[in-house]
Amino acid sequence: MIYSRIEGTGRYLPERIMTNADLEKMVDTSDEWIRTRTGVERRHIAGDDETTSDLCVKAAQAAMDAAGVTADDVDLIVIGTTTPDLIFPNIATLVQHRLGIKPCPAFSIEAACTGFIYALSTADKFMKAGETECALVIGAEVISKLVDWTDRSTCVLFGDGAGAAIVKPADEPGIVSSHLGADGQYKELLYYPVGASKDLAKAGVGDSKILMKGNEVFKVAVKTLGNVAAQTLEESGIDKSELDWLIPHQANMRIIQATAKRLGLSMEKVILTVQDHGNTSAASVPMALDVAIRDGRIKRGQLLLLEAFGGGFTWGSILMRY
Ligand code: ACO
Repeated sequence: MIYSRIEGTGRYLPERIMTNADLEKMVDTSDEWIRTRTGVERRHIAGDDETTSDLCVKAAQAAMDAAGVTADDVDLIVIGTTTPDLIFPNIATLVQHRLGIKPCPAFSIEAACTGFIYALSTADKFMKAGETECALVIGAEVISKLVDWTDRSTCVLFGDGAGAAIVKPADEPGIVSSHLGADGQYKELLYYPVGASKDLAKAGVGDSKILMKGNEVFKVAVKTLGNVAAQTLEESGIDKSELDWLIPHQANMRIIQATAKRLGLSMEKVILTVQDHGNTSAASVPMALDVAIRDGRIKRGQLLLLEAFGGGFTWGSILMRY
C-alpha cells in the first residue's frame, strides 16, 4: 500500500496588512465588534496588480525548499481556489509555467473554503493509484478582490494568502483518511452572484459582492464541522484523545471554539491564525499548518485533523500523521 506524506510546507501572505483600526475608517464598525464577533485582528490584502498565482508561486517555492525538492521533481499540481487569475487557462498551468515545472497534470478545484482539503484528498488518491511521486498541493485566494469594501457585514471577515504542501509517497501514513462532502441546497446562504456563464457581461467592475446569511452559515458550519470530525475519527478507529492538533478552517473564532467544544477538544490543541490572517478561504488550512510546523508546535509523527467548510456548502476533513 502506498500512502502520501507531507514532506514540506510553505505560505505567502501579501505585504499589505489591514488592521481593524483601518476598517474603522472605511465602514461603520469597531475593533471591539470585529474581535468579539469574529476573532480577527488584522488581515493581509493583495496589491492591485497581485494575483492568486503570484501568491501560489511564492508559497510553492517555500514548500519545495522545505521538502528539498526542485521543479524537476514535481509531477502533479492541484490548487484549491475560488479566485483564479483567469477563467482559463487554469491557474495551475500558470503556476506550473512560472515555476518551470515539466509537463504534468495541473488543475484547480473550486470548493470555496474547502478547496485545499479537496485538493489534498485528490492528490492522495493520485498517490494511492501510483500516478504521482511528488505532488504540489496549494490552497490560495485573493478574496479581497470579491469583497464589497462598503459592506461591513462581510468586508471585516476576509483576507488573502496562499499555503502549499509537497506530498510524496511513503510506506506508512501520512494521510490516514479523508472525508469530503457537499450539499448544494445551501447555495443561497453564501455565494457570489456572477460567474463565467452567468451575468458576467452585465456586471461592471465592483458591481457584485459576496452574499451571505451569516447567522445561518454559522449554525450549519458548526454542526457540519463537528459531524465530519466525529465521523472521521470513528471510521478511522481513532479516539479524540489521540489527536495532537486540530487545524480547522479559520473562518471565525466563534465557529472554531464551538466546533472544538462539540468535539470535546481543548482549545490548546487547536491551531489558530484567524486573528492574524482573517478568513482566507482555501488558503486558511495550509497556512495554519505551515505556521505551526515552522514554529515547532507540530512535530513529525503527531496526529493531525484538518477540516474545512465553505460555500455550497462543501466540507471535508483529513486525518494524517505529520
Ligand atoms: N461592525 C459593526 N456592526 C456590525 C457589523 C460590523 N462589521 N456587521 C454587522 N453588524 C451589525 C448588524 O447590522 C446587526 O445590527 P442590528 O442588530 O442593529 O441589526 C448586528 O451587528 C448583529 O448582526 P449579526 O449578523 O446578527 O451578527 P452576528 O453575531 O451573527 O455576527 C458574523 C455576524 C460575524 C458574520 C457571524 O454571523 C458569523 O461569523 N457567521 C459565519 C459566517 C462566516 O464565517 N462566513 C465566512 C465564510 S463561510 C466560511 O468560511 C465557513
